[in-house]
Amino acid sequence: MSNKAARNLFIFICIFFFAIFIALSADTLSQIDKRAPEITDEVNAGKMVWHKYDCIGCHTIFGTGSYFAPDLTKITDKKPKDYLKKFLMDPRGVNPRAAMPKLGINSTEADNLITFFQWVAKVDTNGWPPKPILATAAEVGGAALTPGQSLYQSLGCVNCHMLNGIGGTTGPELTHVASRHDRAWLQGHLKDPKAYVPGSAMPDFKQLSDQQANDLTDYMASLK
Ligand code: HEC
Ligand code: HEC
Repeated sequence: MSNKAARNLFIFICIFFFAIFIALSADTLSQIDKRAPEITDEVNAGKMVWHKYDCIGCHTIFGTGSYFAPDLTKITDKKPKDYLKKFLMDPRGVNPRAAMPKLGINSTEADNLITFFQWVAKVDTNGWPPKPILATAAEVGGAALTPGQSLYQSLGCVNCHMLNGIGGTTGPELTHVASRHDRAWLQGHLKDPKAYVPGSAMPDFKQLSDQQANDLTDYMASLK
């Protein structure tokens, strides 16, 4: 190849890849806005509350902050709104062992914070943070899940309860729950926690069919 041909080839390749670079950059820029929903006044107000109480002094969001307390990026996918509101206003009123102090958050501030968290949860983070591996003893052993075990996972009980070392710490550990309560108590409590534990912060699961409630209670009653 002559010098001239080599130079032309060099210029051509430079232009070719520069064009690809521009096209991909334009494509990325056009997608950025779609990765986060619109920011409303309530979302902004919630963010101001987040700063006012220095939540980031203990928590992380999108992975930045302090590692004293759980990451809150997807908190509204994990915990129901009523529960979060109660917790924010009075953590120990919900969970006597809570390490989070009562910060003096009022009702409006709590609502705004939750709107802010809902916005944060909708931001497309490419699957971050990774979900904990929801393995149960049965899965580890390779056996199929019973209907009760599947319900336990799909209804998000694991977000609040620890079972065989896996799960959240909001509610009591359930590994031996059947040694504390009989079947009737477990089934009744599931449909209406407050009737059994006054002021209970556990959401009720009234929406379950009788069959589902039975399956789940079978599972709970087997945890001796
Ligand atoms: C002094 C540290 C500290 C500060 C400040 C703090 N938190 Fe927490 N927070 C915690 C800890 C620790 C937990 C884990 C549960 C527990 O032990 O209380 C928690 C849990 C939570 C939860 C999850 C509750 C659950 O059951 O999953 C939410 C939501 C939350 N905090 C929101 C906030 C918000 C919003 C602020 C600021 C207004 C804030 N936190 C400030 C320490 C803190
Ligand atoms: C938002 C958090 C949350 C979720 C989700 C949740 N629980 Fe609870 N649970 C609690 C709290 C808080 C308590 C303690 C107060 C009470 O006993 O009602 C509790 C208590 C219990 C108890 C009584 C434990 C004991 O030792 O007295 C059982 C059983 C139970 N939950 C089962 C379940 C099942 C099954 C699911 C899923 C269908 C579930 N929970 C979902 C928060 C939750």
